[in-house]
Amino acid sequence: MIAIRTEREIDILRQANQIVAEVLAVLAALVKPGVTTQELDAVAEEMMRLRGAIPAFKGYHGYPAATCISVDEVVVHGIPGARVIRKGQIVSIDVGVQYKGYFGDAAVSVPCGPMDPQRKRLLETTDLALSRAIKAARTGNCLNDIGRAVERTCKKERFSVVRAFVGHGIGTEMHEEPQVPNFDVGNRGPVLKTGMVIALEPMVNMGTHRVKVLEDGWTAVTADGKPSAHFEHSVVVREGGGEILSATDQWIWGRREDDKA
Ligand code: MF3
Ligand code: CO
Repeated sequence: MIAIRTEREIDILRQANQIVAEVLAVLAALVKPGVTTQELDAVAEEMMRLRGAIPAFKGYHGYPAATCISVDEVVVHGIPGARVIRKGQIVSIDVGVQYKGYFGDAAVSVPCGPMDPQRKRLLETTDLALSRAIKAARTGNCLNDIGRAVERTCKKERFSVVRAFVGHGIGTEMHEEPQVPNFDVGNRGPVLKTGMVIALEPMVNMGTHRVKVLEDGWTAVTADGKPSAHFEHSVVVREGGGEILSATDQWIWGRREDDKA
């Protein structure tokens, strides 16, 4: 069962996701050579609590931090710690909160200073893939239209889409039905209806799509050590395409809301 949210519920989901968006904008601006991932996490948790929100990731299946900070070859679920961010690396920041009983979840990948052209193209392509996914989150479309749009966008640039992790419904739980693959699963899947709320989150690798999880049980890295990027928005299915709940007016690298409409 995929929940259809009322406009009142969607308002609260928007409030939760606006806190997420604000945190992402601040963390993105703090990415500089020499900063550690735990310094970013501390800022995020403080911002969440000041706004009356609960860090949704902390304690989730034992996850130890408020954010996931995934540097370069880390695909997702990088645990903030002593790792120092270096010039030219891709920093993927994933933030989730619980607010008034509803969840917000979004992510952005930003460059630490000047970046080589391949990495830059990976960021641009992943961001574009998310835009296309959001456009596909249109009333009457099928779930598989989302994955097909992402896969097509990435294949064209000869990047690979991660298959081991997927997007998800979001509402009164962080992870609800449906699962949202970022690739063509070969069948149409459920029809999208106005008021469904889903977190779309393409993870795209420069090399192989394969990932492995480190000893800590969380950190997912690319099997070949090549870089990866991750962008995520929580969106409501609408007639004209997905309405972004985690949108921000703050400029974040590569994120221009006029592209997302
Ligand atoms: N955005 C990620 C997801 O939807 C973040 C989860 S991190 C976890 O799965 F620690 F909470 F698992
Ligand atoms: Co998510």
